[in-house]
Amino acid sequence: MAAARRLSLRHVGLTAENPSVGTLLVQGEGGDARIVGRGVTAITGRPHSERVALEDAGAAARGATAYVTLEPCAHHGRTGPCADALAAAGVARVVIGAADPDPRVDGRGIAILRKAGIVVRELFEAGGSGRPFEGFLSRLRRGRPHVTLKMAVSADGAVGRPGPERVGISGAVANRQVHLMRAGMDAIMVGVGTALADDPMLTCRLPGLEARSPIRIVVDPQLRLPLGSRLVRTAVDVPTLIATTRAADAAAVPYRRAGCGLVPLEGYDADDLRALLRFMPSVGVQSLMVEGGPALANAFLWAGLVDRIVLVRSAAVVGDLGIAAPEGVLAPRGFRLGRRERFGADVWTEWERDDACSPES
Ligand SMILES: NC(=O)c1ccc[n+]([C@@H]2O[C@H](COP(=O)([O-])OP(=O)(O)OC[C@H]3O[C@@H](n4cnc5c(N)ncnc54)[C@H](OP(=O)(O)O)[C@@H]3O)[C@@H](O)[C@H]2O)c1
Repeated sequence: MAAARRLSLRHVGLTAENPSVGTLLVQGEGGDARIVGRGVTAITGRPHSERVALEDAGAAARGATAYVTLEPCAHHGRTGPCADALAAAGVARVVIGAADPDPRVDGRGIAILRKAGIVVRELFEAGGSGRPFEGFLSRLRRGRPHVTLKMAVSADGAVGRPGPERVGISGAVANRQVHLMRAGMDAIMVGVGTALADDPMLTCRLPGLEARSPIRIVVDPQLRLPLGSRLVRTAVDVPTLIATTRAADAAAVPYRRAGCGLVPLEGYDADDLRALLRFMPSVGVQSLMVEGGPALANAFLWAGLVDRIVLVRSAAVVGDLGIAAPEGVLAPRGFRLGRRERFGADVWTEWERDDACSPES
């Protein structure tokens, strides 16, 4: 299952509203086990991974065990259900990594398999609702994207320094990890404070992954984003949305002309942020990385809208004028420790919200 999950990562962010699922078809057991078919959900979301793997395996699928990271589908689209396809190919056993809460599936895929005499094993507890499709699960269960809040914090607890001079907090290796994370996200969000201070590009600049840059979103209630900023100037190349209370004003027109999309925002309340997130799936955003400054980070934390915190703790010292990091990222409450790595001189820590992706969170 771990190998199937790794395979599924290939198309994360490229499968539209479908999750990127991995399927491995395996013949034999233990030391004799042999992968006879591999599949990952195709770019744009179709065909599903099960069909790709069955095609890859051909006749070798008969009697095989299928490791599928998400419950096979049970509904008729342009093709029949994947659960039927597995049964028709003579697969003997199916191991499933996570339940699919899509109302068209929701246990029906498993029922089809069992009815066909296939042995089904559910690995739902073993991290099954994990990363590759947490955005998909979040959209289905909560109607909003999965939210990762990322912050780089200096040794003396600062996220930056006021004024035009930009301070680098995290090192080159951690920065590349951030770019890798961006590549798997549907959107990145900052507040206009960050856009004004840093004039960022917010793209993925890893060699070979440039085309994986997500949608950029600037929370800019008063439309303060300069028309000459790099974000606006590159909006024709990289999709850019501005969430603003002035979407209907004449002031919004030049941004539209420059290629930006304008998204209505009611105001500064937690409910307004919630409404903004609920709008996100309609523009294809199921996973969101908030890379803004402390104002936006605090707003997300206070609204209870953060599912994962990525804290990059560096050895750099900013000094007396430093802008303090939000308390909520330094000592997260209601989160459990996920991953911890050292990247160069930086310590990268991920905190997972205890109830992430539950319907009420
Ligand atoms: N170390 C890091 O990880 C990191 C990351 C990003 C930025 N930074 C640093 O942080 C500093 C900027 O901090 P910042 O707090 O000003 O940046 P920010 O949070 O990105 O932007 C703040 C602005 O966004 C708008 N905003 C924030 N929360 C909102 C909400 N709930 N509803 C509506 N609008 C909201 C407000 O705009 P209006 O005032 O126009 O209403 C606010 O002034 C810079 O020095 C930058 O370099 C550090």
